[in-house]
Amino acid sequence: MKIIDGTAMAEGILGKCAEAVAGLKSTGVIPGLAVVLVGHDPASDIYVRRKIAKCRQVGVRALEHRLPAATTTAELLKLIASLNKNGEVDGILVQLPLPRQIDEQAVLDAIIPSKDVDGFHPVNVGRLSTGGKALVPCTPLGCMHLLSSVIDDFRGLKAVVIGKSNIVGKPVAMLLLDRECTVTVTHVHTRNLPEIARTADILVSAAGSPGLVRPDWVKPGAVLIDVGVNEIFENGRRRIVGDAELDGLTHAKAATPVPGGVGPMTIACLIENTVRAAAIRVRT
Ligand code: GUN
Repeated sequence: MKIIDGTAMAEGILGKCAEAVAGLKSTGVIPGLAVVLVGHDPASDIYVRRKIAKCRQVGVRALEHRLPAATTTAELLKLIASLNKNGEVDGILVQLPLPRQIDEQAVLDAIIPSKDVDGFHPVNVGRLSTGGKALVPCTPLGCMHLLSSVIDDFRGLKAVVIGKSNIVGKPVAMLLLDRECTVTVTHVHTRNLPEIARTADILVSAAGSPGLVRPDWVKPGAVLIDVGVNEIFENGRRRIVGDAELDGLTHAKAATPVPGGVGPMTIACLIENTVRAAAIRVRT
């Protein structure tokens, strides 16, 4: 069983982004990403810091906006409106989840689609599902890169996605469908999940449930992409694990580890989307 190295693959993408950024800079354009974090969610804080560090690594200008936990929807919409107009900003990322008092959909709807590097705006969601040129959500893009490193021809493969979120499950299903897979999307109310999972040539787990995917859920020769990021405490120590244990998966063709699989690819794809958005700005 091959363990797909997401960290190495992400560094490869970031290297290409750095070259593209250098090219843009020679034409006087510095790609800029505005990262908005509301409140003090510890996981979000770590994600945002990693995103900003990778921006700086490749020469993308990161503009950090940290707002207090009590921020209102109106205040956040005002910031989005100013970022939409700001000529130095090519991408706008509002880290989710937002505090409960904020109308999340109103915020995502307010980001101008051309700067929506998360691909969460309804226009980009619509373009993704109709095959148009969209900014595509970063984690699903990362999953497709990882799969493409071990699969040449996706046509006719059976793909099973565990999880139906707007961030991962639904968009990754669309991307797999676009590559001519036969796709089943499952969720917490799905009956006979183990049997369905066992039919998959490609199994994408975005359940957020440690130990959910047992070795006997994975068909011999299948590829497993583990999107789970779960914090567990073992012998008094904190550890991040995915939805699957890779021990016992020797019969799979390939699988991604957690950490070091999907996580770094999500960030690399965010930077890739930002550079793409900047390149489009140059051309228009
Ligand atoms: N929270 C968890 N994943 C994501 C993501 O991909 N983008 C944003 N903005 N927030 C997230």
